[in-house]
Amino acid sequence: MKADRVRWNRKYRDQTHPTGTSAIVKRYFRRARQGRALDLACGNGRNALFLVDQGFQVDAVDISDAGLSLVPRRPHRLHLVCADLDTFSIPRKCFDLILNIRYLNRRLFPYILEGLKRGGLLIFETYLEKKGATPKKISCRDHLLRPNELLHAFIGMHILYYEEKADPDGGFTASLVAVRETTR
Ligand SMILES: C[S@@+](CC[C@H](N)C(=O)[O-])C[C@H]1O[C@@H](n2cnc3c(N)ncnc32)[C@H](O)[C@@H]1O
Repeated sequence: MKADRVRWNRKYRDQTHPTGTSAIVKRYFRRARQGRALDLACGNGRNALFLVDQGFQVDAVDISDAGLSLVPRRPHRLHLVCADLDTFSIPRKCFDLILNIRYLNRRLFPYILEGLKRGGLLIFETYLEKKGATPKKISCRDHLLRPNELLHAFIGMHILYYEEKADPDGGFTASLVAVRETTR
């Protein structure tokens, strides 16, 4: 949505954003076959570039041209796409690995599953609403998972890891790593 682009372009111009690879990506990417990966809402490309360096061919999608302009390198195996994930179509059975880090778009849940090849890996980590707690960074509930929501959304997959926990910055996150079953 256009408002997302305006809001995020402003955030990328006015604030600093993490540049190190997410810990969950470093920890689990090896569970995926080295092949084609999709990074949803890739921001400054911190995770997409890590995957490229590990030998993946990466499609990295984000609505913010200001965020994408911060991607520090443009290796040939990185394909940056400036697009709105509210309308973006994830190609079916295409990816060995899909990342969704610090972004929530519930519309995408079924398409994420379909976008994975059989045996493909999903690494999903984003903010969680915690009962009785007021998260500091994100106020809009639409951008927050409910307890167990992520687990339920992908329960048809083979779950390797699921955790809901407090972050050092005072927020809460849910993290899931799962494999698309080879038989379904
Ligand atoms: C918290 S940042 C996370 C960026 C990256 N995944 C990371 O972990 O560094 C959220 C990202 O979602 C992107 N975003 C927000 N709404 C979007 C939309 N409708 N379509 C595509 N990207 C969107 C923003 O531009 C921003 O880069």
